[in-house]
Amino acid sequence: MVDFHESVLAEAVVTALVPAIDSVPEGALVDVTCGAGGHTAALLARCTPNRVVLVDRDPAALEHARRRLHGAACTVDFCHAPFADFAAELDRLGVGTVSALIADLGVSSHQLDTAERGFSFRADAPLDMRMDPTRGETAAARLAAMTVDELVRVLRRYGEEAEAARIAPAILAARPQTTKVLAEVVEQAMSARSRRALGKRIHPATRTFQALRILVNGELDQLDRLLEDGPARLAVGGRMGVISFHSLEDRPVKQRFAKLCRAPKLPASLPLTTAELEARGFRAHFGVPAEISRKGVVADEAERERNPRSRSARLRAIERLHPGWAPEPSA
Ligand SMILES: C[S@@+](CC[C@H](N)C(=O)[O-])C[C@H]1O[C@@H](n2cnc3c(N)ncnc32)[C@H](O)[C@@H]1O
Repeated sequence: MVDFHESVLAEAVVTALVPAIDSVPEGALVDVTCGAGGHTAALLARCTPNRVVLVDRDPAALEHARRRLHGAACTVDFCHAPFADFAAELDRLGVGTVSALIADLGVSSHQLDTAERGFSFRADAPLDMRMDPTRGETAAARLAAMTVDELVRVLRRYGEEAEAARIAPAILAARPQTTKVLAEVVEQAMSARSRRALGKRIHPATRTFQALRILVNGELDQLDRLLEDGPARLAVGGRMGVISFHSLEDRPVKQRFAKLCRAPKLPASLPLTTAELEARGFRAHFGVPAEISRKGVVADEAERERNPRSRSARLRAIERLHPGWAPEPSA
């Protein structure tokens, strides 16, 4: 199973979520990026949720997880869906109470290593990059419909690519259909100085591939919806964890969780100050979820050594404290 994908921060996920699963026995564990099912398997080895719901937009991942979790001691449902739709999937299954929700963002090692999925510049394959190969447009099709200005914006926004203005026209002139051609076009378009600055370990096309992958899969919009709906679906005592791999993912998670954990503004007419209310222990009654770890958890040296993918991973988690609490929309 490790061949498919080695879970990152599995111990940290267990530490963050098991207390919630134990304290909300009627609740479901919802893994919205089930991949190989590794985080779910690690959790099931330590506790027994009432029910498990696994979501992934990749049918191959669901198939793998289905085999791995066969024989689990509780009901397990598999949903082929983008995680932005996880709440609708829970409604369809009649799942109301969620004790724990985990999201492990991005692509799996299996997706990266399967050449024909078109995620990697290390292999030659059609330029696809869809996590769900059954729907949506491939990266090649998206590129074919773009203007230079649009592509510059995508490379800057989703790849933080400083050389976007050089790279975008070169890509659109070449109209690449394969990963290899795209990687070569980017490498040739980039200035020698930028290539040197990246050094030997980072391929010049890394940021371009990241940007196109985020575009093709609508990854940041998906994340926004998850951050909106996830906390609202938690039972009191329930927890939500998100593992991110780069700043474009981590920033919205950090900001949303921080906002949820902030004390709400009190009406000016209230006769007591916030400090007085907190001193009286009123704060919990507002039901603001506490961030389990303000800075998030990163992999230790041993994990970083064993699994290079873990080097950029960060887990953040929150807990819902009060029934009356409802998250403000993140506007
Ligand atoms: C990093 S892997 C998850 C690995 C898994 N946690 C494990 O331990 O085996 C990410 C998985 O999430 C899926 N995924 C990413 N974004 C998604 C989205 N918006 N909706 C549904 N699935 C998504 C990918 O298809 C991939 O299988």
